Amino acid sequence: MKLPDIKILDEKDPRLHQVSKEVTFPLDDETKQKIEDCLVYLEMSQNEEYAKKYDLRAGMGLSFCQIGDMRRIFVVSEDYGNGEFGRYVIINPKIISHSEELIYVGEGEGCLSVNRETIGIVPRYARLKVRAYDENGEEFEMRVREDIAIAFQHEMDHLDGILFTDKIDSKNPFKDKEKMREI
Ligand code: NI
Repeated sequence: MKLPDIKILDEKDPRLHQVSKEVTFPLDDETKQKIEDCLVYLEMSQNEEYAKKYDLRAGMGLSFCQIGDMRRIFVVSEDYGNGEFGRYVIINPKIISHSEELIYVGEGEGCLSVNRETIGIVPRYARLKVRAYDENGEEFEMRVREDIAIAFQHEMDHLDGILFTDKIDSKNPFKDKEKMREI
């Protein structure tokens, strides 16, 4: 497997702090190739052998703004643990409804654009219902929960120019922890 030729921008890049634009359909072949490249990159990053060979940090989500394309597209790759991966391609997403319950990643969230140690927790909804478009421009609705729900919220924030580090209270990085469930 060949590592896709994509360059992931660092948090210092101003594009990571800008709001991405709605996507118009149909997608051209170049865009579809970028989607494929992002998914393959994430899958390789979650594979121990490739991660070592190419010095990759494991990531389960990537937004187009992170590769310098300011359109509202993100992908999430779910490691099924048997060498297979679930693939989510999400375009122009909107949250339709969400749980009251909040969760957070106990070890802290990570981002392929944040290349430093961070501390603190990010409150996220435990469950979401999302409306979005697929690669063919078909509208669909989807329910996601737990780690996938967190990944979706992290990536949707990217589309609005928000990084997970922006959501951590620097004076009190574990604020309201007792009101949420750790995953
Ligand atoms: Ni990220």
